[in-house]
Amino acid sequence: MNLSPLSGIRACVFDAYGTLFDYASAASRCHEVPQTLREKLNLLWREKQLHYTWLRALQGRHADFWQVTGDALDFALETAGIDDAALRERLMSQYLRLEAFPEVPQVLQRLKAAGLKTAILSNGSPEMLEAAVRHAKLDSLLDAVLSVEAVGVYKPHPKVYQLAVDRLGLEPRAIAFQSSNAWDAWAASAFGLRVVWCNRYGQRAERLPGQPDREIASLAALPALVGA
Ligand code: LAC
Repeated sequence: MNLSPLSGIRACVFDAYGTLFDYASAASRCHEVPQTLREKLNLLWREKQLHYTWLRALQGRHADFWQVTGDALDFALETAGIDDAALRERLMSQYLRLEAFPEVPQVLQRLKAAGLKTAILSNGSPEMLEAAVRHAKLDSLLDAVLSVEAVGVYKPHPKVYQLAVDRLGLEPRAIAFQSSNAWDAWAASAFGLRVVWCNRYGQRAERLPGQPDREIASLAALPALVGA
């Protein structure tokens, strides 16, 4: 595995859900649901959430990530045979209080101390991202929180990756983009960003345009790759 440093990086931009924030922490807190069902619900909820973003992007019928996340949850609950409005509300509200992965605060601190800019680039709506950032106490560690709502279409549309370039005012080659979603990592690479694939979930390589520059298993390995 190539772990040599990437040269010329000025900013580290992160995907949110699955990369900085553990989306599984929403369902895992609902202890009244048996564990195996919780796990099934979590997987289907996430899978459907992503499918709906891709389908809406293709259809040109954007709705924000809060709506899509709720629609996906309804689909997952119905599939699991659960009809419980209070549980639905609890699961949705947990999405605003997701846990950050344990290494995240320290990694962001190190990047900032080294003079790198830090940002989120996510499908999440501004309100969802703001809530998650505040809950995880990452506010002071991020220079920008960029939501696809600014461009009205979901990843992997190139407009989304362009948003990071425009808002940070940097060349694509000066931006290291981190995602634990393989498809997002491949798409950002095809766009022209430098990409560190944080393969937390042991995903397989995509057969899509692009090729992440580096692969790591946790963000703890990132600072060494960007000279921080
Ligand atoms: C995001 C999803 C893809 O944060 O995880 O954009």
